[in-house]
Amino acid sequence: MVNKKIRFHIFDDCVYAYEYTLAHYELLSFIDKKDISSGLFDGYTDVNSNNKDIQLFIKKLAYFDSLKFNGSLHHTHQYFLSKVNGAIATNSGKGYMTHWIYPYKGKFHPQMIRALINIMGIKEGQKLLDPMTGSGTVNVEASLMGIDSVGVDCLPIAVLITKVKTGLLKKIFQGNSLIPFRTSLQPILRIALIIL
Ligand SMILES: C[S@@+](CC[C@H](N)C(=O)[O-])C[C@H]1O[C@@H](n2cnc3c(N)ncnc32)[C@H](O)[C@@H]1O
Repeated sequence: MVNKKIRFHIFDDCVYAYEYTLAHYELLSFIDKKDISSGLFDGYTDVNSNNKDIQLFIKKLAYFDSLKFNGSLHHTHQYFLSKVNGAIATNSGKGYMTHWIYPYKGKFHPQMIRALINIMGIKEGQKLLDPMTGSGTVNVEASLMGIDSVGVDCLPIAVLITKVKTGLLKKIFQGNSLIPFRTSLQPILRIALIIL
């Protein structure tokens, strides 16, 4: 029997050590260490495929843009979010979906949050609390992942920004699956922000 491999490719714009570390740990949250057969040094990780759930990887991974399995290339949801619906958010002040709405100083990188949610093992149906929610990066990312969340902040402006960013997603998509979007939604989101 041929031992098939899944080859995970990390986003080319991941350049910092912490991004590689988070990428490594988010993989480990889904995969046994013993199944990882090569590291991330050249931007790839090879994994023994024994009954691994390809759809789960596609849906959840934050730092990988694609995976190759059985001769086919599959893009992750994060690929469509970042590359189609907004600039990759790690190193830029932009961001996909409603992340771009306010340039809040000290806000987290959305991909970092997605990876941490994976690492913590939070799943759909569970509730997440950010007690210092700032501009709501955690709440936006949680709703993109189908996870309920609560945000608290001592600054009313932070609460307002978070409500706008999460409320806009809710109003437009009304419970429909938010990902993946293969065409850019930024024009719709920008017009909706003005109208609603
Ligand atoms: C670094 S920002 C948080 C970034 C945010 N979690 C994100 O997802 O992008 C820190 C926030 O904590 C809030 N904060 C600081 N002390 C607080 C407190 N004692 N209670 C509630 N919020 C607090 C600040 O107003 C600020 O908005």
